[in-house]
Amino acid sequence: MKNRNWHNVIELSNLEKKDVTNVQFGTKDLAIYDAKDGIFVSLSRCTHGAANLCDGYFDGTYIECPLHQGLFDVRTGEAKAPPARVNLKMIKSRVREGIIQIYL
Ligand code: FES
Repeated sequence: MKNRNWHNVIELSNLEKKDVTNVQFGTKDLAIYDAKDGIFVSLSRCTHGAANLCDGYFDGTYIECPLHQGLFDVRTGEAKAPPARVNLKMIKSRVREGIIQIYL
């Protein structure tokens, strides 16, 4: 089994405040949310189609897809409004000494 580990992604101070920041990490395109309930990380691609959720509207809890207005809860990845039906893939994250880390 592949060893999983924590990886530094971006400094907390470089995030868009109370918004979503698009970050490339290796081959992964990530969306990092500065949400009301903390920092959350998902893949940036919508599960419904070829849209980058980082271009959508974020209200601090829900991200709205810019293409067809599917809605996801960034705390859990749950798809909340059609046409999005498949939950968003969330990536385990934490903040250590001002740096956002993801577990991959
Ligand atoms: S591509 Fe996101 S809702 Fe359709």
